[in-house]
Amino acid sequence: MQNNDITVADLFAGIGGITLGLKRAGFKILWANEIDRDACKTYSTNFKHKLYECDIKSLNPKDLPRVNMIAGGFPCQAFSIAGYRKGFGDTRGTLFFEIMRLVDTIQPEYIFLENVKNLERHDKGNTFQVIIAELENRGYYVKHKVLNTCEYSEIPQNRERIYIIAFKNKNIYEAFEFPKKTTKRKTICELLDKVADDKFYYNKKTPFYQTLLKKITSHCTVYQWRRVYLRENKNNLCPTLTANMGMGGHNVPLILDSKGIRKLTPRECARLQGFPETYKLPTIANSALYKQFGNSVSVPVIEAVAKEIIKAIKKVS
Ligand SMILES: C[S@@+](CC[C@H](N)C(=O)[O-])C[C@H]1O[C@@H](n2cnc3c(N)ncnc32)[C@H](O)[C@@H]1O
Repeated sequence: MQNNDITVADLFAGIGGITLGLKRAGFKILWANEIDRDACKTYSTNFKHKLYECDIKSLNPKDLPRVNMIAGGFPCQAFSIAGYRKGFGDTRGTLFFEIMRLVDTIQPEYIFLENVKNLERHDKGNTFQVIIAELENRGYYVKHKVLNTCEYSEIPQNRERIYIIAFKNKNIYEAFEFPKKTTKRKTICELLDKVADDKFYYNKKTPFYQTLLKKITSHCTVYQWRRVYLRENKNNLCPTLTANMGMGGHNVPLILDSKGIRKLTPRECARLQGFPETYKLPTIANSALYKQFGNSVSVPVIEAVAKEIIKAIKKVS
């Protein structure tokens, strides 16, 4: 089987970070599903294959093209520490079972899942146990690992996420290994815009501006305002970009450049998730773009894991 014969459906596709990583590794994305209108706009600006713009619950698997792999970074709010720790009691948590509903009809050979690191520990490990059992009961062999973006790609973002890969074929499962750590890392400065629009800069009217001026002193460093104090992110790393960047206030990480203190721009957030310059940002509110990049994945990490899947398939065939 050639790489690009391996077809994929990307569920909870957002803006297509998983789509892009898998595509770069050589997989062929046949279709995707996403409910959020703005995310769909960004997705379809960048990809031409079929995007079902609807609630996953309304998809009838019998009407969907068959694929070899189902991928999905299912909504993590129900599992993350930042959420309410409700797990499967919260309807967003139960969206995992929507993936299983489609798996039951489509019967893909591979399942590629991504979620927050805390998924493993949620509800004393019960939530995770259920997920693994659901996969194993369907005859899948499962490997999982937490990978930090700054250790498994050149991107200087501290982003720990769990990757769960399920295989129908035991030999491929045994041949698969998660990627090795990388040694090269880009600097924050390399990923910043040379010139940013005035609207991203803070000024005297910005709440806590004087405090920010006193504390934000280093260039090429990302700062975060944490309600009452400012956090300087050392080690030349950007903190985890999160969906709440879209909620305004000081939620978008801050930097100092020759013109002053400003928020990261949406394009810089895209780079800090490993999206290339060719990835287009549609004309929608910046708040929507910030949310989308915070919700997305680090593309090079997806690509690295996906390449290892292809290696394992090739080893076995
Ligand atoms: C963690 S994000 C995944 C982001 C994606 N992997 C990316 O690279 O952009 C989860 C996505 O699931 C979508 N979503 C939530 N509920 C959904 C539903 N019922 N049906 C379809 N998509 C849904 C959200 O709009 C969000 O974009």
